Amino acid sequence: MKIIKLKDYEAVSQRASEFIIEQIKHKPNTTLGLATGSTPVRLYEKLIEAYEHKEISFKDVKSYNLDEYIGINRNHPQSYYQYMHKHLFSKIDMKDEHIYIPNNDIDQLEENAKKYNNALNKSFIDLQILGIGSNGHIGFNEPGTPFGKETFIVELDEQTRKDNMRFFNSLSEVPKYAITMGIKNIMRSKCIILMASGIEKADVIYEMIHGSVTEDLPASVLQLHPNVIVIVDEQAGSKL
Ligand code: F6R
Repeated sequence: MKIIKLKDYEAVSQRASEFIIEQIKHKPNTTLGLATGSTPVRLYEKLIEAYEHKEISFKDVKSYNLDEYIGINRNHPQSYYQYMHKHLFSKIDMKDEHIYIPNNDIDQLEENAKKYNNALNKSFIDLQILGIGSNGHIGFNEPGTPFGKETFIVELDEQTRKDNMRFFNSLSEVPKYAITMGIKNIMRSKCIILMASGIEKADVIYEMIHGSVTEDLPASVLQLHPNVIVIVDEQAGSKL
């Protein structure tokens, strides 16, 4: 694991964007793995700037999102489908057919998970962006998830629902389930960049890097991956 500790969220976003921009320059038909949540918002703004300045084009780029809530439909403002279009896809030249987000259609969940997994297994993610949950989840692989899992339907941890309550009006509105890439899918990526900022991530970042590799802290599996870059700000890295 390569650890990069920078001053603040802005610097973390800047450095992560540089890796992605270099990757796309080097390989215009790159396949990205993308995350949602608060962490990558500024990163996506920086990618949009690079696109607007004609530094890079996304016309041959493909992307797979890590996860999607179940129980709210795609048009709900907090769906990850909406998030990705709002924060990135509507502002760059990515082709619709190159965008993969798990389909949360309630009638065909198991089938959709299988389809998403098949698509993932036919492809190969060059660069996966990850955030980390305060409980150590990556994607929505909650503590206790076997490392061998591929795309599946997950019941969200109480901690995750509380953490994500800030995006909803109340805890009861936060979805209870999601569809997520499994750890096995994530570990197949050629390179992984995990970003974290803020003091509330300090303990989990320490455990992920220095604790034992255990399914109780899913992100610890990254210690076993040959090409992981962890980019943290001073607060998230304060226990290192
Ligand atoms: C999002 C995802 C999650 C988040 C994590 C951190 O697609 O898979 O693992 O990366 O919950 O979320 P934030 O960035 O909001 O702290």
